[in-house]
Amino acid sequence: MNHATAHAATRLSTSLQVDGLHAFYGRSHILQGLTLCVEAGEVVALLGRNGSGKTTTFRAIVGLMPRTEGSVRLGDRALSGKSTHYIARSGVAYVPSGRRSFGQMTVKENLRIAHEEHSKTRLSRALNDVLDLFPALHSKLNTRAGVLSGGENQMLKMACAFLTNPSVLLLDEPTEGLAPLVVSELKEHIRTLATTGVGILIAEQNARFAFGLSQRAYVLNKGFIQLSGSVDDLSANEQILSHLGLG
Ligand SMILES: Nc1ncnc2c1ncn2[C@@H]1O[C@H](COP(=O)(O)OP(=O)(O)O)[C@@H](O)[C@H]1O
Ligand SMILES: [Mg+2]
Repeated sequence: MNHATAHAATRLSTSLQVDGLHAFYGRSHILQGLTLCVEAGEVVALLGRNGSGKTTTFRAIVGLMPRTEGSVRLGDRALSGKSTHYIARSGVAYVPSGRRSFGQMTVKENLRIAHEEHSKTRLSRALNDVLDLFPALHSKLNTRAGVLSGGENQMLKMACAFLTNPSVLLLDEPTEGLAPLVVSELKEHIRTLATTGVGILIAEQNARFAFGLSQRAYVLNKGFIQLSGSVDDLSANEQILSHLGLG
């Protein structure tokens, strides 16, 4: 058993279940009753054009929206209406899109701060686990995060999220702005993360990338789930492919 699998053994295997989720910005009714689930160890894609509500879905799940209705559960724990802190402690880790890590701090300091959020395991052991999963960060531990490449920064953000020992990881457009070679490397990392038992919900405009990673997908359109199903079925649906710009 390698470090990562040992780490996974301490994680609760729980599924994320979202039922009838509505979200509002003031009078704007953005999410109109989403229902979705992510099982432990599963990679699920949340697809949709720009503005369809992917980021809002994540923000609503982790308690960052001013107003929501509906139910969000992790296993048998209700998360709706709870604080962002409580939701994170319960095991939902959110990796926002396009945000840099703490640039003035080293990679190791970024990882240490993430680890302090969840100190059930020793830092040395948690770092070993995470460096098994992201070996590219090993030689960068003493590098300032601000000088990392886009791909390395994305890996650091995912590593920081993983250090909180989540049951579910929400990845918002992880491939945004990355070169194709880095994107395919990232794909392998996300696959490996899922083998540790964490459930991954990945929001993407890059449907090709998401189709290559996921077993199931939800297609969002204007705050509704327009279609959901296995990636095999969805990728045979010409209408959906052209909607997603893959036609
Ligand atoms: N802070 C905000 N205030 C009002 N409306 C917003 C705000 N952020 C996003 N929206 C609107 O919510 C909708 C969904 O946006 P978003 O969840 O960011 O979509 P996606 O992540 O799929 O591109 C869009 O119509 C967008 O204009
Ligand atoms: Mg977005």
